[in-house]
Amino acid sequence: MKIAVIGTGNIGSTLAKKWSAKGHEIFLGVRDINNFKGKGLLSIPNISVQSLRNAVEQAEVILIAVVPPATADIANAMGDVSGKIIIDTMNSLRTKPEGYNDTFDALKALCKNTSVVKCFNSTGFENIENPVYNLVTPVPHHIGLDMFVAGSDAKAKQVATQLSYDAGFENCYDFGGDDKVVLLEQFAFCWINLAIMQGQGRNIAFKVIKR
Ligand SMILES: NC(=O)c1ccc[n+]([C@@H]2O[C@H](COP(=O)([O-])OP(=O)(O)OC[C@H]3O[C@@H](n4cnc5c(N)ncnc54)[C@H](OP(=O)(O)O)[C@@H]3O)[C@@H](O)[C@H]2O)c1
Repeated sequence: MKIAVIGTGNIGSTLAKKWSAKGHEIFLGVRDINNFKGKGLLSIPNISVQSLRNAVEQAEVILIAVVPPATADIANAMGDVSGKIIIDTMNSLRTKPEGYNDTFDALKALCKNTSVVKCFNSTGFENIENPVYNLVTPVPHHIGLDMFVAGSDAKAKQVATQLSYDAGFENCYDFGGDDKVVLLEQFAFCWINLAIMQGQGRNIAFKVIKR
């Protein structure tokens, strides 16, 4: 797929690397093509840098991984995104987009686009970089991590799900429609709380188990 990655920090860089390795064509959409986080990505095949608008124009899917207050600027800079799928990775924990409670609502309203899903927000970027845990007890074994996606657009959800498999996740659980996006963001806050505030460290993950 042709994917624009807006925000080339921890989350955007990590996913750009994973997806390019799977053969996706990645257009990094940045503010300043000479000075942006993750410049080293340009040495990787299938990754190029563009102005934000050019990256979006060429893409079928747009990943947005910036700080929440930048949402309005990004929406404005992207221009016409009709027919494109938007994947929102952002959590409005410390900051929010001006005038909105969360980035998902802001993107839907400002981009006039209904094909928006929330995904890749619920865990730390280290778990996206390496979504397999090698455990030693009781016997050496591997556990593949889970991803979660929320939103009401079925096609967007299907694409985000496939992209989570392409990033190496074992499962991608459907968290529900637009009405469950806030819950998925709160789920991310649970990870942040345990990992950072309660001191468990960033190398922890949630896994759905069934019997
Ligand atoms: N870090 C995690 O583990 C994690 C996990 C889940 C979700 N998230 C969410 O993902 C988002 C990104 O987090 P991150 O840790 O990847 O952030 P980060 O490393 O700080 O990178 C932020 C990126 O946003 C870009 N940016 C900021 N303002 C912009 C603007 N006005 N226009 C264009 N680009 C702009 C920066 O561009 P420049 O290079 O030009 O500065 C940078 O590439 C956040 O909303 C966060 O809540 C993060």
